[in-house]
Amino acid sequence: MRKALIAGNWKMHKTVAEAVELVEALLRDMPDAPDREVVICPPFTALSPLHALLANTPLLLGAQDVFYETQGAYTSAIAPQMLTELGCSYVIVGHSERRAVFGDTDAIINRKLHAALQAGLRPILCVGETKTQRDAGKAEQIVVGQVQAGLADVGGAQMAEVVIAYEPVWAIGTGDTATSADAQAMHATVRATLDDLFGGAVAETVRIQYGGSVKPDNVDELMAQPDIDGALVGGAALKAESFLRIIGYRA
Ligand code: PGA
Repeated sequence: MRKALIAGNWKMHKTVAEAVELVEALLRDMPDAPDREVVICPPFTALSPLHALLANTPLLLGAQDVFYETQGAYTSAIAPQMLTELGCSYVIVGHSERRAVFGDTDAIINRKLHAALQAGLRPILCVGETKTQRDAGKAEQIVVGQVQAGLADVGGAQMAEVVIAYEPVWAIGTGDTATSADAQAMHATVRATLDDLFGGAVAETVRIQYGGSVKPDNVDELMAQPDIDGALVGGAALKAESFLRIIGYRA
């Protein structure tokens, strides 16, 4: 049985004061649901104050990115141990905005994923095709390639710590969600790829999140799909009311 993982990716939103306010609102009304894990990934600047606020609460902390070196002359970069020190248990790697805006390649993402695992962080590996790629009939090929490249040289035992997030790029921030049937089909493809790479026993235990315009009004249907094990939520994670509704999905 895979434990669902709902993660809020705040992107470049929320000052420290705003972050504290949102988390206080979330903690006031967090549903008591032991069958699901909930993570928030605020900007780096809010990690330290939120770490203190989240002690002894069911809300977990994650980061939106990490660099693959442990220290050194890498201006602006954040090392994995800097994140574990602040109580992070998860880190997003390979988000499509990192790929498109900051030039993260599959090879860089793979190094980040290994560095995260090395430090005891659970990586959330994001994969997904663009609209052009989907229209060209290449969606599966792109996603399978990103999964294979992102997980290069990862061992089956390490996969217990890895989460995959399927996020079609055309669905991110657009209000244009994949249908639950299309999302399920791609999740099944990702799971088949994991089966090829690591065998069926591992493939059955890895959690695969869906991301891209997840909202209170579509989360239940998405979460009801057999291979959708959680959601990576952007815009709807920025307001307590909508994120609480998503956390409390009924599948
Ligand atoms: P969205 O973003 O929910 O605003 O579409 C999702 C993501 O980019 O992780």
